[in-house]
Amino acid sequence: MSIRALIFDLDGVLTDTAEYHYRAWKRLADALGIPFSREENEALRGIPRRESLLLLLKGREYPEAQIQEFMERKNGYYLQFIREITPRDVLPGARELLEEIHAAGLKSALGSASKNAREVIERLGIASLLDAVSDGNSVERQKPAPDLFLHAAHQLRLSPKECVVVEDAAAGIEAARAGGFQTLGLGPASRVSNAHFIFPSLERIKLHDILGLFENAKLDQPIIPPNDSSECGIHRHPHEH
Ligand code: BG6
Ligand code: MG
Repeated sequence: MSIRALIFDLDGVLTDTAEYHYRAWKRLADALGIPFSREENEALRGIPRRESLLLLLKGREYPEAQIQEFMERKNGYYLQFIREITPRDVLPGARELLEEIHAAGLKSALGSASKNAREVIERLGIASLLDAVSDGNSVERQKPAPDLFLHAAHQLRLSPKECVVVEDAAAGIEAARAGGFQTLGLGPASRVSNAHFIFPSLERIKLHDILGLFENAKLDQPIIPPNDSSECGIHRHPHEH
């Protein structure tokens, strides 16, 4: 079945808000006197707000009202960061890819667990390049459940097999695979090792490269990475034949 759409995660894929989420959590953790490192933050990538907080608290128990206050405080810090976002903060290659998708008559959608996703895409100036938006307000069960991506595919009126999900987080790849989507992981293979294919980033990636990968996926041929990376490169998931 040929690919008709790409569904993009937001944080860490179209823009580097993953860094802002980390800084906002770090600020909360510091205020609470809880040690919280960048390494620990890896486990929070793609994870919704409440679950992220519970991971950060590492088993410390608080009354519900306090949990709510912590989430609001972190979100307040995060909102301060995203207020500074401009179209220059779209990650390299992302806008060009969205424009190519449009020009080729394919569809694109956002599949982000963030409740702030709409504000971010507006500030980035890419809202008009997305045919559908599914975000933290769209479904109950967030990643790694497949619901968010299924919601996006439903809005596009396409089946999961016709869509490639582009993700930078293990929870996102797990969600997409659970829904039967094709997956393209971005970043170090340690984060997205379960993706069908992996690129270091979207920089210099052409739509044609992506479509070629998935269309040729059944052919047993070596695949040449379009951009170099010793760590990530491009690979076919070992279980896919
Ligand atoms: C995801 C991020 O996109 O959204 C997570 O990767 C974040 O780090 C989650 O926790 C929820 O975001 P928000 O903006 O609703 O707190
Ligand atoms: Mg992400």
